[in-house]
Amino acid sequence: MPLDVIVLAAGQGKRMRSALPKVLHPLGGRPLLAHVLDAARALHARNTVVVHGHGAEAVRSAFADAGVQWVLQAEQLGTGHAVQQALPLLGGDGQVLILYGDVPLVRVANLERLVQSAGDGVAVMTTEIDDPRGYGRIVRNGSGRVERIVEEKDATPQQQTIREINAGLMALDARRLSGWLAKIGNRNAQKEYYLTDVVTLAVKDGVPVNAVKVPDASEVAGVNSKRELAALERAFQLRQAEQLLDAGVSLADPARIDVRGTLECAAEVAIDVNCIFEGRVVLGERVHVGPNCVLRNVTVGADSEVHAFSHLEDSEIGRRCRVGPYARLRPGSSLADEVHIGNFVEVKASRLGTASKANHLSYIGDAELGERVNVGAGTITCNYDGAAKHRTVIEDDCFIGSDATLVAPVRIARGSYIGAGSTINKDTPAGQLTVARARQVSIASWKPPTKKKT
Ligand code: UD1
Ligand code: CA
Repeated sequence: MPLDVIVLAAGQGKRMRSALPKVLHPLGGRPLLAHVLDAARALHARNTVVVHGHGAEAVRSAFADAGVQWVLQAEQLGTGHAVQQALPLLGGDGQVLILYGDVPLVRVANLERLVQSAGDGVAVMTTEIDDPRGYGRIVRNGSGRVERIVEEKDATPQQQTIREINAGLMALDARRLSGWLAKIGNRNAQKEYYLTDVVTLAVKDGVPVNAVKVPDASEVAGVNSKRELAALERAFQLRQAEQLLDAGVSLADPARIDVRGTLECAAEVAIDVNCIFEGRVVLGERVHVGPNCVLRNVTVGADSEVHAFSHLEDSEIGRRCRVGPYARLRPGSSLADEVHIGNFVEVKASRLGTASKANHLSYIGDAELGERVNVGAGTITCNYDGAAKHRTVIEDDCFIGSDATLVAPVRIARGSYIGAGSTINKDTPAGQLTVARARQVSIASWKPPTKKKT
């Protein structure tokens, strides 16, 4: 049977207290709506229609390549009204699955159960929670069948004690849905067209309404406020942390890791507390990441160690490297195998060959370092002349003395030694010591200054 998906995402989300449309708020580094569209994609839906309204332009442009259809609901007259706007874009036959743009963590397997259980009738997703305030309640009859869904604001005190709530997600027979939608009105506490009223109409028509009750309430939790978003973020992160643990990754504390993108780990990877992974990060076998590191779009080769407080972005790290503590790799950095980058060393758009080392307090920008280069403490590549960037090349087996200043463009030929404190602005010959600093003098007649008495 063909399946069409409608995603409701027109609401403003007033309680977020933000100018950003609600469904664009990030969860795990991606907009809420992106998570929902992932689920729709996994179900191989025939059509996916997103009903949008608040911040329409921003929402559409954030998902320009998502391959979905858009329906504008200019005025938010309720969930039933929203679904009605989408119907003309659908196939008209088969089943319709209704998702919410602000319910991001629902599992695909449970959506499949929902669709299955609907058949040519209706299925609603429910869960039981301790504090059901704000949600529609599932009212069952004497024999336990779903009879109707009553909104909090329309519920009697008796109904308000019901702890089984409507998650909002529903699967229905498409033809029946359009018939029922035509019949629902807005005579209720909120003067809205409630989608949930289709349940009453189905029961009246003798069409079975099944409830698919999910045990994990975080799965069907909606985001209405920053508090709820923060709570869901933790639930999402814990889910990812548990997947990593199950795959054999050692996490010092599954409650203190944030993956905002994808993290691929080979065997025996260990990650200490408070690390953030963004974009696509790949860690090879036995990689260790120390505490408080940020890695964004980084690949780390086997047996490398990233020590505490390192910040690595758009970079590649080879095998058996040591990076940090307090290292910064900026975009375009590439370390071959066995490279050491120590504390307070910044590398940008540079390649370092095998076994090269910059262990202390350096800036290496727009540079090409060969193999076995030793960069002394405090060495700076002066890559910027105020107008343009220039490259520094340091060939194999060079030794750069501490506090050298390499004024680019400049080439340090193979096997060069650079005396400490030198300012190098001309290419050096291979295999020689080059020193470029004032000769040390001592002035015998010098007297220390004296303070004048007033
Ligand atoms: C709805 C359900 C309630 C359920 C709860 C679960 C109805 C009448 N009530 O209530 O039973 O427990 O969700 O979270 O369906 N939206 C539109 N256009 C509209 C109205 C809403 O696109 O005109 C979208 C919102 O952006 C949101 C979703 O539909 O993504 C739900 O709307 P919301 O106003 O949050 O519904 P609730 O009142 O919480
Ligand atoms: Ca509402």
